[in-house]
Amino acid sequence: MLYVLMGVCCILIGVNGGWDEEVGLLKRGGGYQREFDYFKLCVQWPGTYCRRTRHCCSNNACCSRSNSPSVFTIHGLWAEYNDGTWPACCSGRPFDEREISTLLEPLGKYWPSLSCGSPRSCHHKKVPFWGHEVEKHGTCAYPVVHNEHEFFLTTLNVYFKYNVTDVLFKAGYVPSNSEKYPLGGIISAIENAFHATPEVACSGDALEELRICFYKNFEPRDCAHDTSSRGSCPRYVSLPARGSWGLRSNTTAAS
Ligand SMILES: *[C@@H]1O[C@H](CO)[C@@H](O)[C@H](O)[C@H]1NC(C)=O
Ligand SMILES: *[C@@H]1O[C@H](CO)[C@@H](O)[C@H](O)[C@H]1NC(C)=O
Repeated sequence: MLYVLMGVCCILIGVNGGWDEEVGLLKRGGGYQREFDYFKLCVQWPGTYCRRTRHCCSNNACCSRSNSPSVFTIHGLWAEYNDGTWPACCSGRPFDEREISTLLEPLGKYWPSLSCGSPRSCHHKKVPFWGHEVEKHGTCAYPVVHNEHEFFLTTLNVYFKYNVTDVLFKAGYVPSNSEKYPLGGIISAIENAFHATPEVACSGDALEELRICFYKNFEPRDCAHDTSSRGSCPRYVSLPARGSWGLRSNTTAAS
């Protein structure tokens, strides 16, 4: 059942950037949750995600034209169980941006919000994307991760070390609005670089997310589920180029 919910949650995120729904569906009561089994680093492709941008706001990186990211950006570092479920909203203090004041620059660049919605925290408050991720997932990464600052620093370090963008670009999978790439080739490129099988997620025929899994010591491992399947992806996928999204209407009007 939880596996089904995972599917539902991701579709909702896809449609609405709906962090609220995600928390709403998966939040557990204040009960004890056993220690997690492994980590999943989720990175998202802005060229795909931002195609759904319909309106803009200052905290949506899809809207900052000149600055909009052209690399896979961080979605989150999730604590997972081997059976395909995961703990959520474990005990921990509410998100406090002051704890990560020294990390705001890299976080803004590599872990931007790609939507205008305000997600809910585990404490039912509206919080930034980061607040949602640390409260829901970061608090469950104990005893590997002990506090908010460590969660964000750890995630950035893993993301820097396992550069999915670099692997794909070097294998010839570069952003394009006309090319389609074999999904199997993309998965193989990651497997060859990291010696572990990733998970993939698509929006239509466009690659939207790649997920790399790690043991608790951050050595790569296969993701527990979905390793032999194509996830929500077709056999051939696109990697839409930056700037092809959202504000298309403005571009069209100007040309
Ligand atoms: C990852 O690789 C890409 C492509 O080579 C590069 O532009 C980017 O700066 C790298 N990111 C990090 C965080 O090192
Ligand atoms: C798009 O066009 C609308 C209407 O002219 C304008 O208000 C908005 O700021 C433009 N957005 C960007 C990012 O240029």
